[in-house]
Amino acid sequence: MDIAMIHGQIVPIKELDPVYLDRGTFFGDGVYEVVRSYDGRLFALDQHLERFSRSLREIDIHGVHISDIRKKVQMAHEQASIANAKVYFHITRGSEHRSHAGGKSLKPNFFLTVTELADDTSRKQHGIAVSTYPDLRWKRCDIKSLNLLPNVLARRDAQKKGCDEAVLVDQRGDITEGAGSAFFMVLTQEKKLITRPLGQQILDSITRRIVLEIAEKTGLTVMQKPITPWQADWADELFIAVTTQDIVPVTKFEGEKIAHGKVGDYTKKLMKAFKEEVKARNAGR
Ligand SMILES: Cc1ncc(COP(=O)(O)O)c(C=O)c1O
Repeated sequence: MDIAMIHGQIVPIKELDPVYLDRGTFFGDGVYEVVRSYDGRLFALDQHLERFSRSLREIDIHGVHISDIRKKVQMAHEQASIANAKVYFHITRGSEHRSHAGGKSLKPNFFLTVTELADDTSRKQHGIAVSTYPDLRWKRCDIKSLNLLPNVLARRDAQKKGCDEAVLVDQRGDITEGAGSAFFMVLTQEKKLITRPLGQQILDSITRRIVLEIAEKTGLTVMQKPITPWQADWADELFIAVTTQDIVPVTKFEGEKIAHGKVGDYTKKLMKAFKEEVKARNAGR
């Protein structure tokens, strides 16, 4: 008899809840998204769904209707009734006995949570500390895959160093992005906002896109080029960008204070412009 063991109990495999045979658990064989709401309204949902659809396509999962995902996300968000919510959802290729290639007629599994976002006022007011970590990820970081072990290891290393984020450094010695965020540098004299160009080494962050759109309003010119840790160390301002917290200033990089440990003026301006963008979108602009 084919059996499994769950919580120390032997269970015949045919009686097993399929959730235990999820390919997401065996292989990280799936993709995910994180959307947030501000004041009860989902933000940039279309962009997230579009990226999700692309991620699914890139890992060869088909037959998922994005209109159905949209309805599920909206319905769950409404039911949770949380003003500032984080909506996490993923799709895996399905459940079956462990085999790398997997069956051809698998039914994808959908999973979603809605949770309250933590208060990030202090992080935004005082900034965060970041450390560096080797970028150990695969060669398709543009796909929002469930395989996040290198990101987990990077964050755990940052945590041990008393940092809030790890910035990943590739084999050439350039920063790719944060373990769970996009990374930016500001040069105040030149009025330049610098971030790595898109490619297969980084995620096409939705927050990054918005930051690039609003940058001009603050008088900054965008330059997309790789940044080295050495350049970051000497930057006038640094910040990270991610859906759950939008812009978060970085006031310490590898133990060194950035801008005397204060949140820079351009970063403040960008945070303000981002807030305005949220307001405008929520007002249905
Ligand atoms: C590796 C990585 N880069 C960037 C981001 C930021 O992306 P977004 O702005 O779409 O949340 C994330 C978010 O989770 C991420 O995991």
